Amino acid sequence: MCGSVVAVLLFSCYNLLYAPSLATATPTSVAASALLKWKASLDKHSQSVLSSWVGSNPCHNNWTGVSCNNATAGVESVVTSIIIQNVNLTGTLGDLDTWSLRNLETFDLSNNALYGSIPSSIGNMSNLRYLSLNANNFSGTIPSEIGMLRSLGLLSLTGNLLTGHIPYSIVYDNMLSGPLPNEICVSGSLSHFTVSNNLFSGHVPKSLKNCSSLFRVRLENNQLTGNISQDFGIYPKLDYMDLSYNKFYGEVSSNWGSCPNLTSLKISNNNLSGKISSELGGATRLVQLDLSSNHLVGEIPTSFERLSSLVNLHLDNNMLLGTIPSVLGDLYNLEDLNLAKNSLTGPINEKLGECLKLRMLNLSSNKLEGPIPIHISKLDKLESLDLSENNLNGRIPPLLGGLTVVQTLNLSRNNLTGSIPSSLTAMVSLTTVDVSFNQLEGPLPKMRAFEDAPKEALGHNKGLCGNNTELECPTQPGHQGNKKKVSIVILIILPTLGFMFLVLVVVFCYLRKRNPNVTFRPQETRTHPFTIWSYDGKMVYERIIEALEDFDSKHIIGVGGYGTVYKAELSSEIFAVKKNHAPEDGEMQNLKSFKNEIRALTEIRHQNIVKLYGFCSHSRHSFLVYEFLSGGSLRNVLNHMKQAVEFDWEKRVMAVKSIASALSYMHHDCSQPIIHRDLSSSNVLFDSDWVAHVSDFGTARLLKPDSSNWTSFAGTLGYIAPELAYTMEVNEKCDVYSFGVLTLEVIMGKHPGELLTLLQETKGISHTELLDQRLPLPEEQVAQQVELLVKVAFSCVHKSPQSRPSMRSITLDLSVETHAAKSNKIST
Ligand SMILES: *[C@@H]1O[C@H](CO)[C@@H](O)[C@H](O)[C@H]1NC(C)=O
Ligand SMILES: *[C@@H]1O[C@H](CO)[C@@H](O)[C@H](O)[C@H]1NC(C)=O
Ligand SMILES: *[C@@H]1O[C@H](CO)[C@@H](O)[C@H](O)[C@H]1NC(C)=O
Ligand SMILES: *[C@@H]1O[C@H](CO)[C@@H](O)[C@H](O)[C@H]1NC(C)=O
Ligand SMILES: *[C@@H]1O[C@H](CO)[C@@H](O)[C@H](O)[C@H]1NC(C)=O
Ligand SMILES: *[C@@H]1O[C@H](CO)[C@@H](O)[C@H](O)[C@H]1NC(C)=O
Ligand SMILES: *[C@@H]1O[C@H](CO)[C@@H](O)[C@H](O)[C@H]1NC(C)=O
Ligand SMILES: *[C@@H]1O[C@H](CO)[C@@H](O)[C@H](O)[C@H]1NC(C)=O
Ligand SMILES: *[C@@H]1O[C@H](CO)[C@@H](O)[C@H](O)[C@H]1NC(C)=O
Ligand SMILES: *[C@@H]1O[C@H](CO)[C@@H](O)[C@H](O)[C@H]1NC(C)=O
Ligand SMILES: *[C@@H]1O[C@H](CO)[C@@H](O)[C@H](O)[C@H]1NC(C)=O
Ligand SMILES: *[C@@H]1O[C@H](CO)[C@@H](O)[C@H](O)[C@H]1NC(C)=O
Repeated sequence: MCGSVVAVLLFSCYNLLYAPSLATATPTSVAASALLKWKASLDKHSQSVLSSWVGSNPCHNNWTGVSCNNATAGVESVVTSIIIQNVNLTGTLGDLDTWSLRNLETFDLSNNALYGSIPSSIGNMSNLRYLSLNANNFSGTIPSEIGMLRSLGLLSLTGNLLTGHIPYSIVYDNMLSGPLPNEICVSGSLSHFTVSNNLFSGHVPKSLKNCSSLFRVRLENNQLTGNISQDFGIYPKLDYMDLSYNKFYGEVSSNWGSCPNLTSLKISNNNLSGKISSELGGATRLVQLDLSSNHLVGEIPTSFERLSSLVNLHLDNNMLLGTIPSVLGDLYNLEDLNLAKNSLTGPINEKLGECLKLRMLNLSSNKLEGPIPIHISKLDKLESLDLSENNLNGRIPPLLGGLTVVQTLNLSRNNLTGSIPSSLTAMVSLTTVDVSFNQLEGPLPKMRAFEDAPKEALGHNKGLCGNNTELECPTQPGHQGNKKKVSIVILIILPTLGFMFLVLVVVFCYLRKRNPNVTFRPQETRTHPFTIWSYDGKMVYERIIEALEDFDSKHIIGVGGYGTVYKAELSSEIFAVKKNHAPEDGEMQNLKSFKNEIRALTEIRHQNIVKLYGFCSHSRHSFLVYEFLSGGSLRNVLNHMKQAVEFDWEKRVMAVKSIASALSYMHHDCSQPIIHRDLSSSNVLFDSDWVAHVSDFGTARLLKPDSSNWTSFAGTLGYIAPELAYTMEVNEKCDVYSFGVLTLEVIMGKHPGELLTLLQETKGISHTELLDQRLPLPEEQVAQQVELLVKVAFSCVHKSPQSRPSMRSITLDLSVETHAAKSNKIST
C-alpha cells in the first residue's frame, strides 16, 4: 500500500516539476523525462538503485548507468549508453519511451529481474549497436521490429543461466519462445547472435542466410527447425556456430567448407541426414567439430585430412559406415575422438597410434574386428579408452600397460581371449575397468582397479579368477590343465627361469652397490627419524622399501597421473611415499640442477604446504617422501556425503584462504617464483583439524620430462588454463586459473565442469544457485565471504591470463574482506 502511494506521488511531482522544461525540450531533457517515467514504473528497490536519477540532465548530473557522448560545437551531448547490470531491477519495459531514447547506442540490462514482453517499440531505437537483455525474466516473442535496428552488431538474449546446470532442462521461467524475427540481419551488420537456451521455435530468420557479417552464432538448446542446407549460407567471417539440441534437418552441406575462418561447428542432437559433404574439409581452421547424435550415413570423408587443427571430433551416435580412414592419423592435434555408436567395420586403424595428443578415444558400439593394435599403446596421453561392444578378438596386447595415465578402460563385449597381461599393473592411474563379456581367463592383474572392480565388470568371461570373479585362483600361478603338459612345461621353463633369476640377482647386487641418488634435507625444528639416521640416504631408501614390503599394493592410498602414493610407517611415524613412474632417458640428465630444485623444495616451510622430506632416485625405484596427512584429499571429502556436510561454509572459506596463502607464498615470497602446475582437488590434503595443505608443489615439472617451460603438458584435465592448449608459456597465471576452478569446486561441492566455458561467455550467473546444495545457505558474514570467493573465482578463470589477478592480490582481498565484513554490513 505505502509503496504504491509513494510511487504515485513521485510521478505527479515529476510532472509538476518538469512540465516547464518540456516546453523547451532538448534531446537530453526529453531522454531524462523518458528515463524518469520508466524509473517510476519500476518497484521500490529498483527506484532506490536509480536514486541518482534526478533532475533533467543525465549528462551533467551523473546518473547511475547512463553515459552521454561529448558535446561538439553547437551540438548538445545526448544519452548514448545505458548499462545497468546485476542489480535486481524489477519491472517491465512497458513504460519505456523508446522514441525519446532513439540516440541510444548501447542498452544493457542484463542479469536483472525484468519481466513481461520486449516491446515492439524497441524498433524505434534505431541507433542501437549493442542490445543485451540476457538473464532476465522476459517472456513472449521477440518483436520482429528488432529487425529494424540496422546498426545492431550484438544481440544477446541468452536464456536463463540462473540454474548453472547444463544442459538446461527446458528449464524455466526466463524462457523466450516463439519464432525469431526474420529481419534480424537486414542491415547486414549483425556479427554476434546469441539466443541459446530458450524455447525459440520455427525457422531461423530468413535474413541470416545472406548475413555475411556473422562471426559468432549460438542458437543451441532451442526448438528451431528447418533444412540447414537451405537456411544457412556461406559466411566468410564466421568463427563459431552452435546449432546443437534443436530440430534441424537436412544435410551437412558444402557451405560450411566454404567458411574459411570457422573454428567451431556444433550441430549435435538434431535430425541431420545424408552423407557428410567431403567439402567440409575446406574449413581448415576447424578446432571443434561435433555432429554427434544425428542420422548421418556414408563414410567419414577422407578430405578430413585437411582438418589438421582439429582437437575435438565427435561423430558418435550416427549411422556411419565403412572403415576408420587412415587420414585420421594425420590429425596430430586431436585430443578427443569419439566415433562410438556407428556401424564402422574392419580393423582398428593402426594409424590412430599417431594421434599422439589423444586423451579420449571412444570407438565403442561399432562392428570393428581384428585384434587391438599395439600402436594404441603409443598414445601415452590417453586418459580414457573405450573399445567396448565391437567384435575385437585376439589377446590384450601387454604393451597396453604403457598407457600410464589411462583412468577408464572399457574392453567389454568383444571376443578377446587369453589372460589379462600382468603388465597392465603399470597403468597406475586406472580407476575404472570393464572387461566383461569376453573370452578371457586366468588371474586378474594385481592392482586395485581390477581387484576392486565390481562383478559386472569382470563377469561373462571364460575363466577369470580372483577377487569378485566366480573362480578362486589356484595358489600356484598358471592355470590348471593336463598335469602331464604342466610338468613338461615346468621342465623346460624352470632351468630358464633359474638362469634368469641368477642374472637378476647379479644385476640387483650390482645396482645396490652403486649408491642410490638420494637427496635428504634436515628438519631443524623437530626430531625426526631421518635426523636419527643422519641422512644416510641409502638407509632411508632401504627402510622405506622394507616398510612398504617392496611397494606391496596393500600400502597404496592413492594413485594419480604422476605416480602411486603409499603409506609408510617407520619408527612409529607415518609418511606418504609417492612412487613415480619409471624415469625415462634424459630425465635425470641434469642431476645436479634436479637435486638443487628438490633441495629448494624440501626447504620450504609454510603451514599450508605439505612438507616434502626428500627424494630417492634409484635405478629400480624413484620416490618422494612427504608429510602424511590423515584428513584425506579435498576431492575425497567433497565426494563423500558425510564429510562434505561436515566441511561447512566456515571450513570451506578457511580452506580456500589457506590454498591462496600457500600459492601466494610460492609465487611471491620465494627467491624465484615456484609454480605448482598441477593444482587440483586431489592435491589439496587436510590434516585432522581441517587445515588445508597444498601438496606436490613444483614437482610436476621435475617428474615429467617433456614439461620444460614451454610446454604442451597440461596438469589435471579440467583444471588446466585454456591458454596451455595452445602451447603458451607456463607461468603463475596458470596456477591462478586452477585456483579459480578449485575455489568453484569447493563452493559448488563438485567440479564446475562446463560451467567454466559459460563463465567465459556470459556475465550473469546467480551465485546462490552455485552453492553446494548439501549445506544450508551460509548466513551473514560467512555469506559475504562466500560471495567474495565466488567473485574471486570468476576473475581467476578469465580466459585471458593478463586479466587474472595475482595470488598476492587475492590473499590481500580475502584478508581485507574479513576485517571489513566485521564492521560493515552492505545493503542493496
Ligand atoms: C558519479 O557518482 C558516483 C557514485 O554515485 C561517484 O563515485 C562518482 O565520483 C561520480 N562522478 C562524478 C563525475 O560526479
Ligand atoms: C569525451 O571527452 C573526454 C575528455 O575530452 C574524453 O576523455 C572522452 O574519451 C570523450 N568521450 C567520447 C565518447 O568521445
Ligand atoms: C529482487 O527484488 C525482488 C522484488 O523487490 C525481491 O523479492 C527479491 O528478493 C530480490 N532478489 C534478490 C536476489 O535480491
Ligand atoms: C520469473 O517469473 C516467474 C513467473 O512469471 C516467477 O515465478 C519467477 O519468480 C520470476 N523469476 C525472477 C527471478 O524474478
Ligand atoms: C515507435 O514504435 C512503435 C511500434 O513499432 C510505433 O507504433 C511508433 O509509431 C513508433 N514511434 C515513433 C514516434 O515513431
Ligand atoms: C541472398 O542473396 C542472393 C544474391 O545476392 C539473393 O538472390 C537472395 O534473394 C538473398 N536471399 C535473402 C533471403 O535475402
Ligand atoms: C579470418 O581470420 C584472419 C585471422 O584471424 C583475419 O586476419 C581475417 O581478416 C579473417 N577473415 C575474414 C573474412 O574475416
Ligand atoms: C534440404 O535442402 C537441400 C537443398 O535444397 C535438398 O537437396 C535436400 O533434399 C533437403 N533435405 C531434406 C531432408 O529435406
Ligand atoms: C527426422 O527426419 C526424418 C526424415 O528425414 C523424419 O521422418 C523424422 O520425423 C524426423 N524426426 C524428428 C524427431 O524430427
Ligand atoms: C563413448 O561414447 C558413447 C556414445 O556417445 C557413450 O555412451 C560412452 O559413455 C562413451 N564412453 C566413455 C568411456 O566415455
Ligand atoms: C570368438 O572367437 C572364437 C575363436 O577364438 C570364435 O570361434 C567365435 O566364433 C568368436 N565369436 C564371435 C561372436 O565372433
Ligand atoms: C575384493 O573386493 C571387495 C569388494 O567386493 C573389496 O572391498 C576388497 O578390497 C577386494 N579385495 C582385494 C584384495 O582387493
